[in-house]
Amino acid sequence: MTSRGTTRPAPRGRTAAALSALIMGASLAVAVPGQASAAARVDNPYAGATPYVNPDWSAKAAAEPGGAAVANEPSFVWMDRIAAIGGTPGARGLRAHLDTAVSQGADLFQVVVYNLPGRDCAALASNGELGPTELGRYKSDYIDPIADILADPAYASLRIVTLIEPDSLPNLVTNAGGTAGSTPECATMKANGNYEKGVGYALHTLGAIPNVYNYVDAAHHGWLGWDSNFVPAAAQFKKAATTEGATVSDVHGFIVNTANYSALREPHFKVTDSVNGTTVRQSRWVDWNYYVDELSFAQALRTELVRQGFAADLGMLVDTARNGWGGASRPTGPGLLTSADAYVDGGRTDRRIHAGNWCNQSGAGIGERPTTAPEPGIDAYVWAKPPGESDGSSRPVDNDEGKGFDRMCDPTYTGNGRNGYNLTGALPDSPVAGHWFSAQFRELLRNANPPLGGGNAG
Ligand code: GLC
Repeated sequence: MTSRGTTRPAPRGRTAAALSALIMGASLAVAVPGQASAAARVDNPYAGATPYVNPDWSAKAAAEPGGAAVANEPSFVWMDRIAAIGGTPGARGLRAHLDTAVSQGADLFQVVVYNLPGRDCAALASNGELGPTELGRYKSDYIDPIADILADPAYASLRIVTLIEPDSLPNLVTNAGGTAGSTPECATMKANGNYEKGVGYALHTLGAIPNVYNYVDAAHHGWLGWDSNFVPAAAQFKKAATTEGATVSDVHGFIVNTANYSALREPHFKVTDSVNGTTVRQSRWVDWNYYVDELSFAQALRTELVRQGFAADLGMLVDTARNGWGGASRPTGPGLLTSADAYVDGGRTDRRIHAGNWCNQSGAGIGERPTTAPEPGIDAYVWAKPPGESDGSSRPVDNDEGKGFDRMCDPTYTGNGRNGYNLTGALPDSPVAGHWFSAQFRELLRNANPPLGGGNAG
């Protein structure tokens, strides 16, 4: 089904093996010194692959009522601080994850690279440990050690998918000046260039490892779906991907909806619909966006990225961990044709108060299970945000992880410019970002769409 299907004659000619073969005029079988028979990159790393199941997450999921229904699903491992590389209480380190992947017989490993200087500049829940100017430490104490581990020949048989720096470049596009949602922190990161340089360095360094597949974070339709953001975002991605030695061929693809809740598909209305002569784009919910769901956004963004110079066989991922919106409140048909608002609000499956809400969303459910090549242009539906891990605490909580308190995680907060000054829709009593949030996990199971097969939590 995918446009990046298996019919493509040759893999990308950019691996070390392919390069040395070209130089030497030899066959692709030529060995690269110091590398255990690195296979050339394939078009879609998910095709035919057996992904790693993170036992740390799996144990927490399985311990919840009904959690066994999803506990064996593959999800991304997050390297969310320098200490995560070596391992933290309750979470094994990168090498231990990779060793476990090998012993599981997995051949695909998914990891989130998330520790830029001045991280999370438009929010507080995942402010990182590195200050805005600490690019040097990002390179030497974070990316380089990760690269050393990933390049170990012991892991050469794994296809390693990296998710590069959620939210960072999108924040430069929409929150770094001149808009209602802008913050001084994002303006600083735009001015000092350290997001672009960090992303460029990560792409270049990790992209030099033949079995690594870099996917850059591209936010979601409710963030970049307006024409004023869409084309500039692709340009911003291109700029970062051609910084610090990186080239567009260090980018295998992009991911949308990371840790977000935007629906994969809205089955009951289309962006081209209108009601009594009023386009649904004028409804309060759509608010002039050109996209109403992630699948249409991902496919259109892919086209734009290719147009701006990324590889023609670029592949997209969609994080479907928490965008199911099933359960009793899921509409079963279109809304009333009395007004554009009634039509959209009555029919939309995404039940958020506002599409800019992102923290521990009430009513959300697990979405599509990880699936390979589900649609044209889409390499996979993946679980980037492990279901059950909090987006942020609903009250201030002391911690040594660099996590702040963001009122978007407080159900009583009436919002800011990025969610149109609406209530946040966050669940109450949530723990610090990344920590286990049992009540949310149980709700995600209950509201799963597609529904989970028999015996899940009620
Ligand atoms: C958040 C947290 C991070 C965690 C990740 C996955 O972004 O800041 O610590 O690892 O979510 O749950």
